[in-house]
Amino acid sequence: MSTITAAITAVGAYLPEYRLTNEILETMVETTDEWITTRTGVKERRILKDPEKGTSYLAIKAAQDLIKKKDLDPLEIDLVLVGTATPDMPVASTAVYVATEIGATNAFAYDIQAACSNFLYGMSTAARYIESGKYKKVLLIGADKMSSILDYTDRTTCIIFGDGGGAVLFEPNTEGYGVQDEYLRSDGSGRQFLKIEAGGSLMPASEETVRDKKHYVFQDGKSVFKFAVSNMADVAEKIMERNGLTHEDVQWLVPHQANKRIIDATSNRMGLDASKVMMNIQRYGNTTSATLPLLLYDYEKQLKKGDNLVFAAFGGGFTWGALYLKWAYDTND
Ligand code: UT7
Repeated sequence: MSTITAAITAVGAYLPEYRLTNEILETMVETTDEWITTRTGVKERRILKDPEKGTSYLAIKAAQDLIKKKDLDPLEIDLVLVGTATPDMPVASTAVYVATEIGATNAFAYDIQAACSNFLYGMSTAARYIESGKYKKVLLIGADKMSSILDYTDRTTCIIFGDGGGAVLFEPNTEGYGVQDEYLRSDGSGRQFLKIEAGGSLMPASEETVRDKKHYVFQDGKSVFKFAVSNMADVAEKIMERNGLTHEDVQWLVPHQANKRIIDATSNRMGLDASKVMMNIQRYGNTTSATLPLLLYDYEKQLKKGDNLVFAAFGGGFTWGALYLKWAYDTND
């Protein structure tokens, strides 16, 4: 019997219409387009303005886009995973609601929470279910309404993040396409540098926590940057070494979109030309769980069957890692 690998067979996405540009941010906090562009690479981000809609809205829209493109019967989906740092609610899993809303009523579903590594870790989880031979269709969604946890008076965080959702379908493959290898890491000493302090069991919500703005993202940017820049490059290099890949063998780097300088450091370490690096941070900012599928969505037409893709991410926790995947299809339209 041939080995089963987990291949990506479809991609979908959703981005809210509203564009929060650097020029608009200049009117909200003390910053400049020049500072944001040179320090991060972001020019604009999308924001889900409707206060009645949460992350599930982004996830459902992205999933529905995939279902339509692939002409997929949602009843065939076995499992729905939603990677998110901004679930609709602390309790009930966003994925469960999403699965029901998209008509995946034969599936089971749950959320994955590893901050900006949500989608990368989710790829690993999805791949294991497929490789087991027991599950045939796993829908992995990465979605975040980051605007719901940002303090728009804090110039150190509000300029970075945006809202969005992306989805991929994993299916079994017996020709060797799909996930080849992964190297995932974590380090709990990092949580002091990137966190939302209140609203969990350690510091439940109170009048004080609201007053002290402890329900918003706090980031010690410099410290996170230092860890991210070396660790993301380390794991990308390691996955290449372990699989005997040279820079010529890698067609695409698919890097988490946190900061253009971190992406450049990773691609430099891998010896990759800029033309092989997927990048859309300038248009969407850091969408946390959605960065990787949004890249696949934007570059899907350029991908060829057999292309070697290296995914890399770094996020709060800290969590980080790299994953090597062989692309499984050509897009004809
Ligand atoms: O995705 C999850 C993982 N997260 C990351 O990977 C993010 C990693 N960190 C970063 O990307 C960068 O650290 C930031 C983009 C967050 C900040 O860039 P930086 O080059 O590390 O800036 P900094 O924090 O060292 O600040 C430099 C200066 C400071 O002023 P002083 O103290 O030198 O006078 C800041 O107050 O820039 C100031 N500053 C700003 N100025 C204009 C900070 N934010 C802004 C701003 N506009 N928006």
